[in-house]
Amino acid sequence: MGYGREPLVPFHPLTELVIAGGTVGTADGPRQVDVHISDGVITALEEHSTRHPAGSRVMDAIGMYVLPGAIDVHVHGRDPGFPEKEDFGTLTLAAAAGGVTTVVDMPNTIPGVDSGGVLESKAALAHSKARVDFGLWGLIRSSSTADQLESLAQAGATGFKAYLGYAFSRSRRQVMYAPDSDDPDLESPPDYGTLLRLAPVVAALGLPLVIHAEDPGILAAFRRPLESYADVLASRPPEAEAVAIAAAAAIADSFGARLHIAHLSSSLGLRAAEVAMRDGSTLSLETCPQYLWRSDADFTQLGTSMKVYPPVRTAVDRQALIEAVDQGVIRIVATDHAPHSDAEKARPLEDAAAGSPGVQTLYLSSLELAKRLGDVWKALKWVAEAPAVLIGLQESKGRISPGFDADLAIVDPRRGTVFRPALMRSKQKHGAMEGLESSFSIVEVYVRGRLVVKKGRAVGGPIGRMVKPS
Ligand code: DOR
Ligand code: ZN
Repeated sequence: MGYGREPLVPFHPLTELVIAGGTVGTADGPRQVDVHISDGVITALEEHSTRHPAGSRVMDAIGMYVLPGAIDVHVHGRDPGFPEKEDFGTLTLAAAAGGVTTVVDMPNTIPGVDSGGVLESKAALAHSKARVDFGLWGLIRSSSTADQLESLAQAGATGFKAYLGYAFSRSRRQVMYAPDSDDPDLESPPDYGTLLRLAPVVAALGLPLVIHAEDPGILAAFRRPLESYADVLASRPPEAEAVAIAAAAAIADSFGARLHIAHLSSSLGLRAAEVAMRDGSTLSLETCPQYLWRSDADFTQLGTSMKVYPPVRTAVDRQALIEAVDQGVIRIVATDHAPHSDAEKARPLEDAAAGSPGVQTLYLSSLELAKRLGDVWKALKWVAEAPAVLIGLQESKGRISPGFDADLAIVDPRRGTVFRPALMRSKQKHGAMEGLESSFSIVEVYVRGRLVVKKGRAVGGPIGRMVKPS
């Protein structure tokens, strides 16, 4: 199609930006097309041309991959509440640097996001600092009421997160990992009873119910001092994951609630999910790069950098998860980006904080895994397309297609990246993915057509907006 002095193609009369000459990752596979963008939205995919609409800026993407920005549905931005660990500015800078153009933040900030009012304050704070778009999960407490969940939905919550086994401090208004405490300040953790009581409400709202799936009874029975990584594994057996998945699926499915399993870590948990799916469950599964790239054998190298809950397990678990991702049984790869301060991670294994940063390495590690599995384009489904569906944005994000937001990562397939601490934009530089190598690098990143990162450097200010499920 030519562009002379004549009127441009009718549905994009004001093309502002053309990303030209790249290999574009569309939902139908790679295509050699130019991406036309106007007003932050993709207006057309055109056959490559060196002539472009008058007045448009042109980004030369020859030799590059032009990919949909990733959507990380599982991050802990720690804001408000834990500025020593992270804040919305550093979280979203790390995201942008890694080609993640939307993050969905977990509700274990202070105060815990248990009502619409709390969510609205958090949204305003995030909006003032965010360099990429963001959604916010609401928190389910054992005391949560239907009214609270409805107010969260009204305020735009992406869905609800229940931390099985995690108590809530009433005075600090904070989710606490405090197993077997009898402190009266602590509200008991949400349990299967809580899920059963609230499943009809969640189902009526049509939003996803995310669970941290580790059965608290099993964890309590297997608690022990953590002197070695073997103790970590023994204290959180995979049966805890399998039992929690089976129980939550049984409850969610009775009411038609959309269950989503966060950070699947074990072959046994996967099997429980597959059994439920065979029985008609519509649950969705997410795993994280640390479970796809690391195993217990890496602890000698990484130490507490790879202490996360649920734990990174054996090479057998890792292989089962890789195959499930490859076959589309696990549809979503998200990070559980959970930074802590260096001091909190430097404590002895027993007391070291659990969690690792990850948002910045999501895309490049997923492209690398997909490449090794024989089809690099598969990664787009794991980190963009399927996550968009989970959070109700399948009509505006997660794909390169006319009418979708121009959230784009320009990736160089000829230059690799080593995940070195010095590259990391999160407050915590060390993490479970440290030292890994990807054959790809991020060149530029756009959020709704605006350049936010160029060669690892931030461009412009906090232009991120809150996204709400459609
Ligand atoms: O390792 C973890 N860290 N697992 C969780 O479930 C919570 C998270 C955090 O918030 O630090
Ligand atoms: Zn998490």
